Amino acid sequence: MRVVILKDETAVSHRAADLLCGAVAKNPATVLGLATGGTPLGTYKEMVSRVERGEANFSECTTFNLDEYVGLEPGHSQSYRTFMESNLFAPAGFNLDICHLPPSSAKNLSVACSEYESSIEAAGGIEIQLLGIGTDGHIAFNEPSSSLASRTRVKALTEQTRKDNARFFDSIEQVPKLAITMGIGTILDASEIVLLATGASKASAVCAFIEGPISAQVPASALQLHPRVTVLLDEAAAGWLTRRSYYQQVEAIQEKLEQGDFDPNLI
Ligand code: GLP
Repeated sequence: MRVVILKDETAVSHRAADLLCGAVAKNPATVLGLATGGTPLGTYKEMVSRVERGEANFSECTTFNLDEYVGLEPGHSQSYRTFMESNLFAPAGFNLDICHLPPSSAKNLSVACSEYESSIEAAGGIEIQLLGIGTDGHIAFNEPSSSLASRTRVKALTEQTRKDNARFFDSIEQVPKLAITMGIGTILDASEIVLLATGASKASAVCAFIEGPISAQVPASALQLHPRVTVLLDEAAAGWLTRRSYYQQVEAIQEKLEQGDFDPNLI
């Protein structure tokens, strides 16, 4: 796991945008896995700015979002589709025909979940998956106790997650109790994963998933099994890490390697 500790949220957003835009610059038809929540907003803003400056073009990208609430009517202001359309898809010029979210208003949700898995597979799999993390260590809506091999399915939200997400609704009663979410197994199938965490409220979950044991009680800890994960943290989210200086040392070496000026005698 590559743990990158950056000065603030803006630096995290810029680095995440660099990774996504870099992949799309190499392959304009990159299949992106996208996330919602407050954390990726800065990244999406930066991606939109790059499109406006003519530095990026996402019109050929196929996208799959991690999750969607069940029970909100289509077009609801807090549905994840609305979130994605207003914060990224429309302003950054994505082709909506190839932007997918779990179809949570389908009549048969379990069939819809299998179809979502099949459409990811048919697109050739997710090349780069963006993730946030919940305060309880969840990724997408895979709450603690989710199987580490889980696939896309309907999941009940914990009270903690509903409380955390109540800030986007008028009251906690309006926060749905169910969501469709990609499973942890689905997420681990992505070729590359970039997890973002900012703010002190994430420090304990960040420490648990990076430095704790792999456990279904901390769903993000399953990322320890994936060979290409980059974790972008601001100082506050990195606050509980005990091996911080080692991560910084590794990162400094990594940066030199990428710049091609690696001299083992200088380490
Ligand atoms: C929700 C989403 C997750 C997201 C988490 C954290 O539960 N399903 O994908 O990572 O919230 O959100 P935030 O970035 O707002 O803290």
